[in-house]
Amino acid sequence: MKTFAEMSAEELKSLRVELAGKYDEYKAMNLSLDMTRGKPAAEQLNLSNGMYEGLEETGFKSATGVDVRNYGAPMGIDEMREVFAEILDTKKENVFLGNSSSLTMMFDCMMRAMVFGEIDSDSPWYEVHNKKWLCPVPGYDRHFRVTETLGFELIPVPMTEDGPDMDKVEELVKDPGVLGIWCVPVYSNPDGCVYSKEVCNRLAKMETAAPDFRIYWDNAYVVHHLFTEEEKGVPDMLKLCEDAGHPNRVYEFASTSKITFAGAGVSAIACNADNMASLKKICGVQQICSNKVNQLAHVRMLPNKEAVIEQMKKHAELIRPKFDMTLKVLNEELADAGIAKWTNPTGGYFISLNVYPGTASKIVSMCKDAGVALTPSGATFPYGIDPDDINIRLAPTFPTVEDIEKATRILSLCAKITAIDKISEEA
Ligand SMILES: Cc1ncc(COP(=O)(O)O)c(C=O)c1O
Repeated sequence: MKTFAEMSAEELKSLRVELAGKYDEYKAMNLSLDMTRGKPAAEQLNLSNGMYEGLEETGFKSATGVDVRNYGAPMGIDEMREVFAEILDTKKENVFLGNSSSLTMMFDCMMRAMVFGEIDSDSPWYEVHNKKWLCPVPGYDRHFRVTETLGFELIPVPMTEDGPDMDKVEELVKDPGVLGIWCVPVYSNPDGCVYSKEVCNRLAKMETAAPDFRIYWDNAYVVHHLFTEEEKGVPDMLKLCEDAGHPNRVYEFASTSKITFAGAGVSAIACNADNMASLKKICGVQQICSNKVNQLAHVRMLPNKEAVIEQMKKHAELIRPKFDMTLKVLNEELADAGIAKWTNPTGGYFISLNVYPGTASKIVSMCKDAGVALTPSGATFPYGIDPDDINIRLAPTFPTVEDIEKATRILSLCAKITAIDKISEEA
């Protein structure tokens, strides 16, 4: 079959008529399909049902005898800190547990820097004029919203297959106004990329003009392998930074949102001893302790990394057919046309689709008219602006396989129609 670029104007015109007919048929079906957010499906959540059973019978006591119903253990109970330490490949002393959301921990962490400054800051960050934050793109919209809301100028940095483009990053950090970078090092949102060792090393080693530069190392998908036989990972970033002579550079984040219950799990921040001392001082003012009943319930069900990996295998069994279906339909519908490219992730929650330049927003609106909700175009870029109007984030975990098939066929149809229109416009 010819690619669209190889087709004549006449051929494209008649193909468009055929595709428009199909689109109208789909529209008449009054569908309501949702591929917007990366949420676990109910069957995934069911894997953790029963987590709260037995707590009363065993007296709500942690391994060291802490009554989790009461105040105390401000950093969280030891055994759950240990689980996160294993997952993040660090030691328990570096881990502080929060409540259910790692995003809240990121926001609070940045607020502490805004109000009080980091331990190596000359002044609180709110006093820094023209402060900037590096945003690998495509990336996670909620990260971008945190730094935008707190008054940073968002600087996009292109992602490569190995992580952020480090030549660009190293150049940009020569500006003292650049105070940090967002990173999702394992199965990045939405590209599913795993940072290479070289990228991790360069991030740890690079010289930054800001003495208080911080990496927000969001390990949200650290154990979210789709194919457990080829689990991927990154080096211990706290150690890398320490070895590189920048021991305060990194804060790591993680949560069980996509391991147990989304928005009702346990979150964690990990950092070195000096950052931890400063964090503890302020967190100790903010709250007495986090929800330890939930921590105990979690650690009873998932007592170590091995148990977490077993749980993640069950998640993978449930979501792999959904990724497979999305990729199958994209291949069937779009591979020959030569108008789109997509990722083939080995973990995480997303497939990142790059369509014909200048068509992503039109595709999303056409899909909406046909009853298919997609993540808004531009969402994966700072300020919601995708300069090439090219990227669409697909989130296959929540809908059923049947819905995914329909939604991806409609999406592909819209991608073809809009590409033909664009090509004709450009001719
Ligand atoms: C990269 C990334 N970080 C954080 C979160 C949210 O995590 P939490 O539920 O712990 O706030 C998500 C959710 O989609 C995510 O994709």
